[in-house]
Amino acid sequence: MEKIVIEGKNRLSGEVSVGGAKNAVLPIMAACILNDGENTISNVPDLADVRTMMKLLETLGARCEYTDGELLVDSSTINRYKAPYDLVKTMRASVLVLGPLVARFKKAEVSLPGGCAIGERPIDQHIKGLRILGTSVQLEDGYVSAVAEKLEGTTVPFDLSTVTGTENIMLLASVCEGETVILNAACEPEVVDLANALNLMGARIEGAGTDIITITGVSSLGPLEGYSVMPDRIEAGTLMIAGALNESDLLIRNCRFEHLGALTGKLLQTGTKIEKNGNSIRVRGTGEIKSIDFSTLPYPGFPTDMQAQMMILMCVADGMSVITENIFPQRFMHTAELRRMGADIKLVGNSAVVRGVPEIRGAPIMASDLRASASLVLAGLCGAGRTEVSRIYHLDRGYEKLDEKLQSVGASIWREKE
Ligand code: EPU
Repeated sequence: MEKIVIEGKNRLSGEVSVGGAKNAVLPIMAACILNDGENTISNVPDLADVRTMMKLLETLGARCEYTDGELLVDSSTINRYKAPYDLVKTMRASVLVLGPLVARFKKAEVSLPGGCAIGERPIDQHIKGLRILGTSVQLEDGYVSAVAEKLEGTTVPFDLSTVTGTENIMLLASVCEGETVILNAACEPEVVDLANALNLMGARIEGAGTDIITITGVSSLGPLEGYSVMPDRIEAGTLMIAGALNESDLLIRNCRFEHLGALTGKLLQTGTKIEKNGNSIRVRGTGEIKSIDFSTLPYPGFPTDMQAQMMILMCVADGMSVITENIFPQRFMHTAELRRMGADIKLVGNSAVVRGVPEIRGAPIMASDLRASASLVLAGLCGAGRTEVSRIYHLDRGYEKLDEKLQSVGASIWREKE
């Protein structure tokens, strides 16, 4: 196992590039199950989660090849419909194969994802949507076992906004007979990216990016040719926080400003300077960070996937901040580690009350999940002295070489064997 070591307080400056979005490429890879051919996808980040999805598709019979951001998925050989526990337990997004497998085989067996460091994550809405479209679903021996006779489009009203739930139903409905209307659909940009990819395969999806998505089923889909995955807005946001710390000055390349509205609005309130420059964003930290309150919400609200990173800024801000987590109310595992670095954080229900301190100090700390691990790296950048972040396999699930990117703009950060 490796750990990341950081000598904090360096002022970062220079240019850094954002890669393809993890949460867009994973559903697009699952979409390949819907056709019978050689799919080519570009701007694919080199992440452990992408490797896990490749392994899962290979387990189903597909052939996958990955080189330098280009991914080939040959789905013509897919001949199995079981997603085993061993893979699903390492990546919850594996549940995205459920809809496509039902579409292809009229049956699927997908392990139920177990517990998760960010709290309980049920999939009842995915199952509700499958049932409404004509699938009979049982939960047996830890598996979701789905069998469909006649799949027919109709209205699928979600009780809440769910990103992968919306994606699963969109995937299945693309090849169901008739029209499916998803009500209360998730509006996240990754849902739009999946809809764009499906439409290029021949699907007929309208309204992605709003809360009503209409899908007119087609009889079959063709392969995806050279689809370029959208930039990762959470990686971009994480780098924006790095730019706001230590009076840094970063030019973040290959990102979409329009995907980062809620975060940009909050960062401006802290006094951070932000300029849009084509596909780049320049972020400059000022010496004085003002405390702000924020609450996580579905898109276009403040993303839960940025809560832990934004908290680092609040740890060293002037004043008190109340951070409310509405999506995953228990997503606060990072706070105990931050306290070890001298941060003043109290948890009250699903809120964290953060009182800014003049300085946090380096310490040995442990990552608990993907976004928490990114926040601990940011804490190391802004803490005085040496920070050692262990269990960084969480980081490698969703950030491509974050340490090398930060090093290239002046951070003192490296990996060591534990
Ligand atoms: N929910 C239910 N029932 C369901 C589905 C969701 O109650 O059937 C609840 C969840 O418990 C949560 C809320 O609905 O309270 C929203 O969850 P959602 O389904 O939108 O989350 P997800 O689809 O499992 C995706 C991302 C997460 C991101 C969330 C929220 C992927 C692969 N994952 O998860 O990303 O935090 O949306 O935006 O797209 C990450 O990248 O680190 C990550 C955790």
